[in-house]
Amino acid sequence: MTETRLLELSGITKRFPGVLANDDVDLDVRVGEVHALLGENGAGKSTLMKILFGLYEPDSGQVLIEGRPSGISSPADAIRAGVAMIHQHFMLVPTLTVAENVVLGLAESGWRLDTGSVAERVRDLSARYGLEVDPSALVWQLSVGERQRVEIIKALYRDCRLLILDEPTAVLTPPEVEDLFVTLRQMADDGRGLIFISHKLDEVMSLADRITVLRDGRVSGETTPGETSKEELARMMVGRPVQLVPDKPPLEIGGVRMAVEDLRVVGDRGTEAVAGLSLEIRSGEILGIAGVSGNGQRELAEAIAGLRAPAAGRVLVDGRDVTGAHPSEVRSAGLAYVPEERMRDGVVGEFTVAENVMLVDHDRAPYCRRGMLRFGTIGERARDLVARFAVKTPSLETPTRNLSGGNIQKLILARELSGSPAVLIAAQPTRGVDIGAAEYIHRRLVEEQGRGTAILVISEDLDEVMALSDRIAVIFEGRLMGIIDRSEVDVAQLGLMMAGSSNAA
Ligand SMILES: Nc1ncnc2c1ncn2[C@@H]1O[C@H](COP(=O)(O)OP(=O)(O)OP(=O)(O)O)[C@@H](O)[C@H]1O
Ligand SMILES: [Mg+2]
Repeated sequence: MTETRLLELSGITKRFPGVLANDDVDLDVRVGEVHALLGENGAGKSTLMKILFGLYEPDSGQVLIEGRPSGISSPADAIRAGVAMIHQHFMLVPTLTVAENVVLGLAESGWRLDTGSVAERVRDLSARYGLEVDPSALVWQLSVGERQRVEIIKALYRDCRLLILDEPTAVLTPPEVEDLFVTLRQMADDGRGLIFISHKLDEVMSLADRITVLRDGRVSGETTPGETSKEELARMMVGRPVQLVPDKPPLEIGGVRMAVEDLRVVGDRGTEAVAGLSLEIRSGEILGIAGVSGNGQRELAEAIAGLRAPAAGRVLVDGRDVTGAHPSEVRSAGLAYVPEERMRDGVVGEFTVAENVMLVDHDRAPYCRRGMLRFGTIGERARDLVARFAVKTPSLETPTRNLSGGNIQKLILARELSGSPAVLIAAQPTRGVDIGAAEYIHRRLVEEQGRGTAILVISEDLDEVMALSDRIAVIFEGRLMGIIDRSEVDVAQLGLMMAGSSNAA
């Protein structure tokens, strides 16, 4: 690797009302390097990247590209300077084709678009970097993983020298992550510089050449995978040791609190997403569902929570038949639900932090008496939850959309985990949150289990499923491949079952 400095950020400071998001940050990226940027939720990672990409202007500090001031003050400038960014939330136009999205914004330069040659170049880039995608497909038809590949092709098409990836793996399945890493490594080997943001320490340790850690807007350390460990990185991020795997007390299982009987659910594409599935979860038990996303997990959870009407079968919560009931009815039967798409289904961005905490309970005591909202009690509860879940926000009156991605996640988890549900469904409970928050969420789930709640954990993170679950159910194409006891788990066998091998079960 050469030592050329592709990028040098020095002394970057950025304030928002009530928040010092970046405090005198230095960061440099060399040619051919994958540089990981780590830090807790709200540490300032996205802000720093948005400054580099010209979306925010720093209050002070300097951005040098190949030793010269970058002159970037808008995303168009950034692209001209060879900087591309894959955002935490994608920015494609769903009604256009892949090829049209790739050249979007370039046509302004006065060139006439030749769709044939665009498609050909897209095909070349896909082949060269292992980014499988059909140039003529419409973006809305693509899976999340495919959309991300389009974003990367778009960056390559513009000949980017420096690529910023803000939590690119948060939305991918494990096999997609592996493919992505092959692509990223090749992009770096071809002489680009990459900045990679992730909360998953395994990923950072396997992909990064160097690692910079941010804490409270400041650089708290710079290291390499060879010189550090996951435990040390956790300490650098959080400022204290973090327990990466939760302690599980001995199991005290009671009666059945949730039952799903021969459930059939039709998915968005009109096919049967859940194809005759039965499960029971007992009081004090965590049942984990392992499986590659898209095998019916989401439809199962939504059908249980009342968000999707099942085509056949029954759902029972504490003995009460809630099949096809309205979500609020299922909720009052004792179900709490942490949805996977929390940004879309879990909060209203324009509402304040306090309003979002109360979004689902505002109509019941003690927060509401004789039709009147009791703001004192509401404020107390919001304050308490924000403190316990360490949601980083300047105030309870801050609009929720101003919070960092992970802090919005924590807010929803705080709300859903704070009642005393009979049954809790947690889909991807730690997706997008930092390791300190993941530690806390895992502890809360185990505490909830201790209170006798029946818990269904749906996660793509096998380590998480194995750490939390008393039994693990594997689902494939909407069917149960088998259920394995905690004491008998064999990772290889799990993997085979997840891939649909019935011999393994
Ligand atoms: N547009 C904005 N207006 C006000 N405050 C903001 C804005 N953008 C970010 N912040 C605040 O700046 C701080 C840093 O946020 P940032 O999004 O950079 O964090 P992050 O490290 O990317 O976190 P995460 O891991 O949760 O994505 C947070 O306290 C956040 O609330
Ligand atoms: Mg962020």
